Amino acid sequence: MRSLLFVPADSARKLDKGMVSGADAIIIDLEDAIAPEAKSGARRSAADFLKSAARETKRPRLLVRVNGLETGLIDEDLDAIVASRPDAIMLPKAEGGASVILADAKLCVREAMAGLPDGQIGIVAIATETAASLFAVNTFRGASARLSGLTWGAEDLSVDLGADANRDASGRFLDPYRLARALCVVGAASAQVQAYDTVTVDFRNVEALRREAQEARHDGFSGKMAIHPAQVEIINEVFTPNAEALAKARAIVAAFEAQPSKGTVAIEGVMYDRPHLARAKRLLARSKDAESA
Ligand code: COA
Ligand code: MG
Repeated sequence: MRSLLFVPADSARKLDKGMVSGADAIIIDLEDAIAPEAKSGARRSAADFLKSAARETKRPRLLVRVNGLETGLIDEDLDAIVASRPDAIMLPKAEGGASVILADAKLCVREAMAGLPDGQIGIVAIATETAASLFAVNTFRGASARLSGLTWGAEDLSVDLGADANRDASGRFLDPYRLARALCVVGAASAQVQAYDTVTVDFRNVEALRREAQEARHDGFSGKMAIHPAQVEIINEVFTPNAEALAKARAIVAAFEAQPSKGTVAIEGVMYDRPHLARAKRLLARSKDAESA
């Protein structure tokens, strides 16, 4: 998934707009975008929307961001939405693999009650929203077969740290958030799941969005979350491998195939070895994913 667009669960209009936004996934939000007194209405709205959206043949992936494990709200969230078969839940304020295992158990029970196949609903965890969570990013590996991705968040982390800003005057994330971002991508690679970059909240700032998306792609993230439909096209463009990069990747793969016993090859005066081959193959796989999205 290249682009994952947040849509508040209580806005039917935005949910419809999300479906045609071009995003690879929409994240129907029951957490921060929903006021406490609006939670139960939002759950119903999310469930109704999921039921009708799931029937569409060409549709984005449908995720629901539930409330965190500590809130006392997650059980009611899951009771309301599991039978409507979201593709995955997004688990906020996850603190390592233990949180994923607990969410997995909650999903197991409800899938059984709804007559759904065991393990159908995936989990994408927000891995860096509390200080403690930063010390647990190495525990996602092997936690659950449901876990398909990690993402990171700077807003809740800054609250937990008692910080009064998370970006400097030029808009760049300060050190604790750069650390969280790096731990997210490293933790995801270690758990062999996808990494998704956090949102750019300043949604009219196209340059900042493009820069953050490009940096994320360079560092190994496979997509980025959005909060406004205008951000989707830029994110998709940045995370779709371009023709030049694809041609180079194909040339590297072809050169190794032509000389299978060689550890290194030369193309136009540049040396390529096995890590280059692995990277080229990964890029070609990503491009296939983008096509089928
Ligand atoms: N998903 C789907 N549609 C959206 C959208 C979203 N996230 N954000 C805006 N739109 C729609 C609006 O409804 C509007 O369409 P309309 O005029 O036909 O109703 C159009 O896009 C343009 O919106 P705009 O006027 O520029 O923004 P806004 O003031 O309506 O909304 C936000 C701004 C920030 C409130 C809105 O983008 C939003 O709700 N984002 C998601 C917030 C969220 O889920 N946060 C939690 C995760 S961090
Ligand atoms: Mg939050």
